[in-house]
Amino acid sequence: MVMLGEAGHYNDTDTGSHVWRMASYCAEIARACAWPADKLEAMELASVMHDVGKIGIPGSILRKPGKLDPEEWKTMETHTTIGYSILSKSNTPLFEMAATVALYHHEKCNGTGYPKGLKGDEIPESAAIVAVADVFDALTMVRPYKEPWPVDRAIEEIRKGAGTHFSPYIVERFFKSIDSIIQIKQAWDDKENAADG
Ligand SMILES: [Fe+2]
Ligand SMILES: [Fe+2]
Repeated sequence: MVMLGEAGHYNDTDTGSHVWRMASYCAEIARACAWPADKLEAMELASVMHDVGKIGIPGSILRKPGKLDPEEWKTMETHTTIGYSILSKSNTPLFEMAATVALYHHEKCNGTGYPKGLKGDEIPESAAIVAVADVFDALTMVRPYKEPWPVDRAIEEIRKGAGTHFSPYIVERFFKSIDSIIQIKQAWDDKENAADG
């Protein structure tokens, strides 16, 4: 499953560290939701595979420098259903969670997400956790084309998204685990700075 997680990002501009860092954030948020230990471990591994369906998206779309046109967006959105069809071939609890996360991690609390337009509690908690961790990491990580946002600004963005993009409950749990999340981020930053320097 680790290989699948890496594979999903081969085509992508995301770095491999994104999936591992956000997986640790997911586990911290799930811990703050009082999930049992075995499910925390599953959450961490399942979240690594959230974008595995990008294997099925043409590189010309994944790596397009400019904005995607509406047709290209439609194709891009299918990484959720492609990921689901790959991961739902196994029915172990881990892969069941991974398939759920792959399918629903772009749903939004107010029903404007994809692929199904689920609302609020219709969105499985595992996918709602990944949605928060994925955006937080995307905002704060270094990308070739953008400066990373300062942590405070990214935290504020998550807070503002409660009830529209994100589940208010999961945002509250994110804030409960913010000290651990910042520690995880710091450890990754130190590691990456050491590698660069
Ligand atoms: Fe995604
Ligand atoms: Fe991601």
